[in-house]
Amino acid sequence: MRVSAARSVTASAPGRVNLIGEHTDYNGGFVLPFALPQRTTVTLTPADRWSVTSHETVTAGALEPTGTWADYVLGVAWALNEAGHEIGPFAAEVSSDVPLGSGLSSSAALECATLTAAIELAGLGIPLGARPALAQRAENAFVGVPCGIMDQSASILAQPGHALLLDCASLETEHIPFGGTVLVIDTKAPHRLVDGEYAARRSACEAAASALGVPSLRQAAGLSELDGVLLRRARHVTTENDRVLAVAELLRAGQVREIGPLMTDSHMSLRYDFEVTVPELDIAVTAALEGGAYGARMTGGGFGGCVIALVEPRDVANVAESVENAFARAGFTAPVSFVATPSGGAALV
Ligand code: GLA
Repeated sequence: MRVSAARSVTASAPGRVNLIGEHTDYNGGFVLPFALPQRTTVTLTPADRWSVTSHETVTAGALEPTGTWADYVLGVAWALNEAGHEIGPFAAEVSSDVPLGSGLSSSAALECATLTAAIELAGLGIPLGARPALAQRAENAFVGVPCGIMDQSASILAQPGHALLLDCASLETEHIPFGGTVLVIDTKAPHRLVDGEYAARRSACEAAASALGVPSLRQAAGLSELDGVLLRRARHVTTENDRVLAVAELLRAGQVREIGPLMTDSHMSLRYDFEVTVPELDIAVTAALEGGAYGARMTGGGFGGCVIALVEPRDVANVAESVENAFARAGFTAPVSFVATPSGGAALV
């Protein structure tokens, strides 16, 4: 019989959009995401066995993958234990307003809220900077998705009003003030072939680095020894790193609208060199630009998901309408748009 009531801990963590720096994180490159206002909230209560409850309850006798969404929660407990931080069974209650399956990192939000609550519950002194890698480990090794470290870094480290410049090789960060108006356009395109294609892009980048004799594409000095698909994949990564640094420099100088063309260049590179766009993403970018956006690009892994457009506040409705009309003409499902302001990272509630 329990002597005292079990203590509960609640934490929340946000989804993210990536301003620029796509498919660079697992190549030791640069990314510039910011946290969304939409968050996932997790309450953990010590229990006799593992359980995770949202619209349904998943229970587990041991910390082994269940093949369900609950693995994002259980995986975090597994990663903490694997790293030598003992954490016993808990009951997790989950709620969220991060759109699911839209490429806005609802999974990272769930992992990072769980991690933040679990660290507090078990009284672990894990510094903030070491946390994204633990959440990423849960996703890579327990859930089985070979993602990089961007989403978990944004969800944990982001600050309100700032974009997060992250060097994915050194894990150095810089919080850069960002006051631009970003319209997020959820294309509602069904994610096609996402997992297999993501892994294929990752292996192509590794093959390109090894052909160049460098540990990762971050170290590539030139691409002249590559051709065909590997050249295009590597060219995306190296030009994208340059674009991230150029955007960071413009934002430091307060030249916000000037980043627009770099965003659009990023999309074209993802479309033609990295080949991770789909017609919905391409049409949304074209229509956003026609509607008056300074720049637009897909955000996240690709193959569906969202486009972001940098707009003047007064042009928000025009840009959204331009995309809606283009989607109606193309016979696509109606898109859903919202303005995202950079928000704060994971926190106890
Ligand atoms: C997904 C992954 C990230 C990153 C992006 C592409 O969101 O989870 O690690 O690789 O795709 O930039």
